[in-house]
Amino acid sequence: MQITLVTQPFAAIETHALVSYVFEEADLVQGRIAEIDQAAAGLLRKLAKSGELTGKMLEFTLVHAPLGLKAARLLLVGAGKREQWNSVTLRKIAGAALRYLKARSVKNFALLVREGHVTEEAIRAVAEGALAANFETDKYKTDKKNDKDIETVLVTGLSDAQRAAGEKGLSKGRIIADAQNFTRDLVNEPSNKLTPRMLAEKAEAMAKEAGLAVEILDEKKIAELKMGALLSVAQGSVEPPRVIVVTYTPANLKPGAPVIGLVGKAVTFDTGGISIKPADGMEKMKYDMAGGATMLGVMRALAALKPNVKVICVVPSTENMPGGKAQKPGDIQTAMSGKTIEVLNTDAEGRLILADGIHYAKQLGATHLVDAATLTGAIVVALANVNVGVFGSDQPFTDKLLASSKAVGEKMWQMPIDDDYREFIKGTVADIQNIGSGKGGGAITGAMFIKEFTGDTPWIHLDIAGTAWNDDAKPWLAKGPSGVALRTLVHLALSY
Ligand code: BES
Ligand code: ZN
Ligand code: ZN
Repeated sequence: MQITLVTQPFAAIETHALVSYVFEEADLVQGRIAEIDQAAAGLLRKLAKSGELTGKMLEFTLVHAPLGLKAARLLLVGAGKREQWNSVTLRKIAGAALRYLKARSVKNFALLVREGHVTEEAIRAVAEGALAANFETDKYKTDKKNDKDIETVLVTGLSDAQRAAGEKGLSKGRIIADAQNFTRDLVNEPSNKLTPRMLAEKAEAMAKEAGLAVEILDEKKIAELKMGALLSVAQGSVEPPRVIVVTYTPANLKPGAPVIGLVGKAVTFDTGGISIKPADGMEKMKYDMAGGATMLGVMRALAALKPNVKVICVVPSTENMPGGKAQKPGDIQTAMSGKTIEVLNTDAEGRLILADGIHYAKQLGATHLVDAATLTGAIVVALANVNVGVFGSDQPFTDKLLASSKAVGEKMWQMPIDDDYREFIKGTVADIQNIGSGKGGGAITGAMFIKEFTGDTPWIHLDIAGTAWNDDAKPWLAKGPSGVALRTLVHLALSY
């Protein structure tokens, strides 16, 4: 899909649809919307009077053959209250407009950005919103007769003086959305099309193309490094595990500068192992590698956006299967760090593989850690599919991440992890156990387990179990993989 900036007067643009947005409360007498209304002989005021145009958030009003415009259609999207407008609203509007028009087989449209709204950030949000909205999960459908892809989006409303900022925003937005769609593509793959080895191959190809350093650790190397927690999960499968390491190094790396370690859970299928999951809905456990896919997508974007901070990405990947060699409840494992773990439930496998991933990222030099994982069903109970669960051991670092999440419109909510929860994971016969003792707080218990392996290193854990996959489509996004947390982490890296 092409996205192009155009500076010609909007009334003269020949397009299948001119799209803009309208605020609640007497917006029709202002700015560009008033100009459209005047050109169309008061049409918009008539629509408002009849109650069909109110400006309510994501209300759609479609007019064919509008007077005074070269466009075949005029689409007005409600934008809510003018004082609450920001680039997060604009991203959703751009995406929702694209999906609305795509469903009606429109092939191109021009989005008119309102007076006073043209900034680099806003144009970037338009590009991100449109490209993410255009993503579909129909890769394996052989019947694409109804191919409804949007071919071109024109972005208009900029003056000639604003073009340079607009182009910058467009280019950054494209990099980020392409990375987000790369992640979503991986998350969407079923486990027979994406084993740990195949994920490693794809990560390696991506890194090489992007100009990033990459190393793939195979089962032999993983054993040499004594990653006992990862190996304990992998031993139940005939598919060997992999650890993917991708590194971005800035050109002007200063000694002593922070190094961000991104660790992503990539269980390409989670049956639960011997503590097997119920059949109902188990197919969704193909997305248990979303944390790893997110981190790989972040690296893909950073390679092009070139932040001033070094970033090391570690993705431990395995299947969790109940094979003949699978670990059994009660087994004791020794993690790479030397800590011993009682595996009381083989379905709490994400924390096991992250234990070794985190330890390895620290060994490689990470001074600040962020992990992303589809870790617990309990976070879905707590926050549903609305907020990512955030756990942090260092408040200033956590605040920095939360500020990034707010800036890019990804909802996240901080959860507690104080020492009172430490006793939940105290082991009976080993150092720690991988589940709590039925006292509730399942998402916190998972986070506390991972924290054991972070030592003094500032660390943030993102539980994306509820948010990495949308069971229902949103007006601005297809149903399925969301690519959540990628934009936040890219923003975080760029803030150094
Ligand atoms: N992959 C699951 C968590 C999950 C649940 C992801 C729902 C996406 C949607 C994880 O490995 C798991 O099974 N966790 C267990 C932990 C329990 C055994 C302590 C859970 O949440 O039930
Ligand atoms: Zn599990
Ligand atoms: Zn899992």
